[in-house]
Amino acid sequence: MIIQPRVRGFICLTSHPEGTAQHVKQQIDYVKSKGKIENGPKKVLVIGASTGFGLASRITAAFGSDAATIGVFFEKPAAPGKPGTAGWYNTAAFEKEASAAELYAKSINGDAFSDEIKKQTIDLIKEDLGQVDLVVYSLASPRRTHPKTGVAHASVLKPIGQTFTDKTVDFHSGVVSDISIQPVESEEDIHNTVAVMGGEDWKFWIAQLKEAGVLADGVKTVAYSYIGPELTYPIYRNGTIGRAKDDLEGTVPVLNDLLQDIGGISYVSVNKALVTQSSSAIPVVPLYISLLYKVMKEKGIHEGTIEQMQRLFADRLYANREIPLDEKGRIRVDDLEMREDVQAEVAKLWEQITTENLEQISDIAGYRNDFFNLFGFNFDAVDYDKDTQEVVNIPSIK
Ligand code: NAI
Ligand code: NA
Repeated sequence: MIIQPRVRGFICLTSHPEGTAQHVKQQIDYVKSKGKIENGPKKVLVIGASTGFGLASRITAAFGSDAATIGVFFEKPAAPGKPGTAGWYNTAAFEKEASAAELYAKSINGDAFSDEIKKQTIDLIKEDLGQVDLVVYSLASPRRTHPKTGVAHASVLKPIGQTFTDKTVDFHSGVVSDISIQPVESEEDIHNTVAVMGGEDWKFWIAQLKEAGVLADGVKTVAYSYIGPELTYPIYRNGTIGRAKDDLEGTVPVLNDLLQDIGGISYVSVNKALVTQSSSAIPVVPLYISLLYKVMKEKGIHEGTIEQMQRLFADRLYANREIPLDEKGRIRVDDLEMREDVQAEVAKLWEQITTENLEQISDIAGYRNDFFNLFGFNFDAVDYDKDTQEVVNIPSIK
């Protein structure tokens, strides 16, 4: 099969197995180049392990501290005439690299929100690892079927209270335009978004893992959040997704109580805005990211998902010193994004940005490149006119 990008809106319908393997390899090489993380995690469960921050966390644990990893995700293998998803190919490549490095790596493909997948994961931990000492929770999903009630919740990306109007970009065409997003009509939208992206499922995971005795003494668990600049507050932090993040962050003390008797601890890490499959779906945010990239690259402080996660592990979670937390108890690896000089320059550019000057004053080119890289496209070493392998298996998945 010859695989070229096929883009619809903010998603790419195709993914390239060799390109995604390159992408994974680059991330592994980066982690290796930073040296071993002393006293890093040894047995790690990553929920949401196939793309974005979760994949980068898995790579950091495995290649930064020789950890055995179990990854849970929801992806699709190739079907006749249709490539598999990027996360499927990423994991196939990851497991092959892990195996070559003699690192344990197994994966579970299914709905992480379900009790069934939680049970399968617990059984696998019992069988192979006994216990885990780190649980990374990195799910991003538009929907969740609640395991107790059976209700299917769909999240929405809307402001709360009033209509939000600001600039946005179609990053394929490069057209900058105004977008108006209507506020939620009912509490129901907020409730549903919190049900999908809030902390309840993280709590279910930790409670069930603990109940099964598969959490090691002193276990750590971390989930990811975002704050961002004031200009995106109406659509992000003060919108429906922000309510879900408030709920996620509010789960930390609950988990700390739950883990107290085994000396465990939970954290939320606030990460930098980056191009992932999830963030490209949020209006306004891609334009902000392309200005942010421009400013941060000029200052020499740009990071991608792998740089962020390597720093989270090496300089925060496993730095062998007290972890610095903000006034709300959160880890901040968005510190460089939120620096005053960075934000002041982004805000200035935000006022000026138009379709005409987009290519000059923003890093829309970098945004696009990162977007295509997510799906394994735009890699020099790959010949996209050549047939790819027909079947790419994830070694641990039968
Ligand atoms: P992503 O879309 O790259 O990754 C999502 C992961 O969740 C994938 O592994 C996917 O397979 C898995 N997943 C989704 N639904 C699932 C289900 N039902 N069962 C099992 N697995 C499922 O997303 P990204 O951006 O890495 O997001 C991860 C976390 O980081 C989210 O909490 C997000 O809000 C947060 N974050 C993202 C930022 C960004 O700019 N992208 C910034 C700061 C935080
Ligand atoms: Na992820």
